[in-house]
Amino acid sequence: MLRIVLFSTALTGFILAASSITCKVCHPVIYKEYSTSIHANSSIYNDPIFKAVWSKHPLSKEGKFKCAKCHTPNDKAVANGSTILQPNTIQKSEPISCQNCHQIETIHKGKFTDKNIYHKKEKYFYSANLAKKGEKILFKTNSRFFGLINSTTGSPYHDIDYTNENYYNGNMCLGCHSHKKTENGFEVCSLEVKKSQKSQQTCISCHMPKTLGSFVNLKDSHTHASHAATLRGEQYRYLAKFIDLVINRTENGIRIELKNRANHALFVHPLRLGQLRVSLNNKLLKNLNFQRVIGKNGKPTMPWLADSVLKDTTLKAFETRIIDINTTLQKDDKFNITLGYYLINPKAAKKLGIKDKKLLEFRVMKSISSNQN
Ligand code: HEC
Ligand code: HEC
Ligand code: HEC
Ligand code: HEC
Ligand code: HEC
Repeated sequence: MLRIVLFSTALTGFILAASSITCKVCHPVIYKEYSTSIHANSSIYNDPIFKAVWSKHPLSKEGKFKCAKCHTPNDKAVANGSTILQPNTIQKSEPISCQNCHQIETIHKGKFTDKNIYHKKEKYFYSANLAKKGEKILFKTNSRFFGLINSTTGSPYHDIDYTNENYYNGNMCLGCHSHKKTENGFEVCSLEVKKSQKSQQTCISCHMPKTLGSFVNLKDSHTHASHAATLRGEQYRYLAKFIDLVINRTENGIRIELKNRANHALFVHPLRLGQLRVSLNNKLLKNLNFQRVIGKNGKPTMPWLADSVLKDTTLKAFETRIIDINTTLQKDDKFNITLGYYLINPKAAKKLGIKDKKLLEFRVMKSISSNQN
């Protein structure tokens, strides 16, 4: 106990501007996951795809970084234009900090993008906890030593507000994730989120699943909400369980049913390319693309030049796509069906000069064969 008391005095006494590293002392498991997540790596210094695209942007030559609002909101000096982009600790280790997510009070709907409205008070964090929903547990300096440390609720470092509905229904993700339009009003990207009466799943339940390990040092909560959101690690394999892939023999061949159980469209980012590969006796028969191609005058372009959608075959929220393959089947014929995607469309990767094999690989989400049915 004594050590914890000392920690908390040291923290509240000397570290004024709260950095995510401060949180690490008491939330080590979550901090470690967060460090591997895309949210801790969303700056040009950590994300080579983002860097490659930004370096083609007309404003990058003038050094006017326009993407801070969502990609590096923690670097406030860059966001308000008082300094130019440089590889400082914020850019490298916490471009989107713990606070950038835990202090979002509301989301304002906007034409070009939505916007996060942050709570002004420092060390005041929102969270979701059904057992405590509706409570506000305020940190009181005078009871730090005698009250809170020994009590079962509250943090010796910050306030916790469990009343904010956005942390229960997942809306807190949407200030950054909803949509983005160009200055001319063309929608470059949208998750096309839909509400459903049937589905209980939210952004948080699917992308921050309960994982073993305590959420805080001072307690043993057994599990915590995973903070490792990324499509780059292994998480996409886990997410695959929200996409159903069923195949059935029909009179004329086979029927494939692909169901997206997510409340948003899949493979929507203009760089992504989803693919369903169907092969018969190990020979590729069909290769279906899921993508949203944007451009101008019928040709694909960089997002800021685009004014139209050239093609949209993305899987919409809750959609079931039916794909019939007509072919005369022999008794022992075997189908193989694979669903996967490229983080970055190989054609775009070439144009952008991206060569890192890890970024270029085809990620298999699901694979089934016909004789298992
Ligand atoms: C409204 C918030 C917002 C703004 C402003 C924004 N982005 Fe993004 N960006 C996102 C989100 C959210 C994603 C993740 C989308 C996904 O994975 O579907 C993303 C992803 C990307 C990616 C794909 C990165 C990867 O590794 O796959 C690139 C490239 C990108 N943004 C470029 C830019 C550039 C360049 C700017 C500034 C000119 C910018 N963005 C401004 C929200 C934003
Ligand atoms: C000195 C230790 C300490 C530090 C430093 C600390 N926390 Fe906490 N935090 C706690 C404790 C203890 C709890 C659990 C309170 C409870 O269960 O009543 C907690 C709970 C939380 C919760 C709510 C968990 C829930 O029940 O849903 C959030 C969110 C949170 N902390 C975020 C942060 C962030 C962000 C930082 C860094 C800016 C941080 N914490 C720094 C000790 C700390
Ligand atoms: C402050 C803005 C912000 C908030 C809030 C935010 N994100 Fe993100 N998120 C981003 C940006 C920016 C990217 C793209 C970063 C990149 O690729 O460089 C991203 C990427 C992602 C990705 C794609 C990962 C990948 O590897 O391409 C997922 C999944 C994701 N976020 C889920 C969530 C969820 C779930 C929430 C809510 C719990 C959330 N995000 C809240 C800004 C945000
Ligand atoms: C039912 C589960 C489920 C729910 C609910 C859900 N997602 Fe997803 N999400 C997925 C799956 C599955 C993928 C595809 C993963 C992949 O491409 O590897 C995905 C992909 C993404 C991506 C990457 C998209 C891309 O193409 O780059 C982002 C960003 C994202 N989700 C954010 C969100 C946000 C924000 C919400 C809340 C509005 C949300 N998700 C709700 C399952 C879900
Ligand atoms: C992308 C947004 C995002 C970022 C970044 C983020 N969090 Fe969270 N965090 C959430 C959401 C949403 C929840 C609520 C999840 C739930 O209760 O199911 C949460 C839950 C928590 C909890 C409670 C966990 C539990 O299992 O009940 C703690 C503690 C916490 N966060 C601390 C942190 C710390 C520390 C950091 C930085 C190292 C951080 N968060 C970064 C969105 C974020």
